[in-house]
Amino acid sequence: ECSRHFFVGGNWKCNGTLESTDKLVDALNNVLIPSNIEVVFAPTSLHIARAQQKLQHKEIKVAAQNAWVKGNGAYTGEISADMLKDAGLEWVILGHSERRSLCGESSQIVADKTVYCLKQGIKVIVCIGETLEQRESGDTSKVVTEQLGAVAQALGTDVSQWKQIVIAYEPVWAIGTGKVATADQAQEVHQTLRSWLSSNTSAEVAQSTRIIYGGSVSAKNCTELASLPDVDGFLVGGASLKPEFADIIKSGS
Ligand code: G3P
Repeated sequence: ECSRHFFVGGNWKCNGTLESTDKLVDALNNVLIPSNIEVVFAPTSLHIARAQQKLQHKEIKVAAQNAWVKGNGAYTGEISADMLKDAGLEWVILGHSERRSLCGESSQIVADKTVYCLKQGIKVIVCIGETLEQRESGDTSKVVTEQLGAVAQALGTDVSQWKQIVIAYEPVWAIGTGKVATADQAQEVHQTLRSWLSSNTSAEVAQSTRIIYGGSVSAKNCTELASLPDVDGFLVGGASLKPEFADIIKSGS
């Protein structure tokens, strides 16, 4: 586990103004980041440039919330990985459950986007997770390994590729609901994903790939979750817009 640097991402989703961006970035500029923790935050595309201008903290990176599946061209309304790269971004979130459910993104599209972004030199936070209905019918493992499987199929077994991605396990029922997964629930799925990686890619990929948790992470519940052997960090929604994001970052040290 020691080889996997703790990773904390803030996903601002479709929120923000120029003013709130300035305030949030100012607050982040003052956070002392322990040396072994990687921190990114993802404003909307409209607020990325502003956040970059304001950001002084060398240990924190700005990320995007999505990218188009291909390069530049006749894709009205989209933003390409080429543009993210050109703008100096290192990271993008792909396959968030809101994009899967509201924008119809399939596991195959998410895998294709992942491959394209990596090719452009953009690192990827790939989100996966089951709905409440799927959990209740006992399909959690099947759903999350199908979602991860599409990415694995596209990436292959090259560990250098896997080092450019982070898997975010976000149970849909825990997102924005205040119903965080229990430590047992989180550890169980994270462990399932890691052993799936071990059997389907390699032991090395399984050991080095970061699997982070998302879904109602807060200053209150982060310490217990951060201590779990297969939880390598967090993807934070609501709480990334609040001062407690700093506490969540520190829970990884
Ligand atoms: O991507 C993070 C997100 O889906 C979790 O949202 O508000 O439950 O922390 P939230």
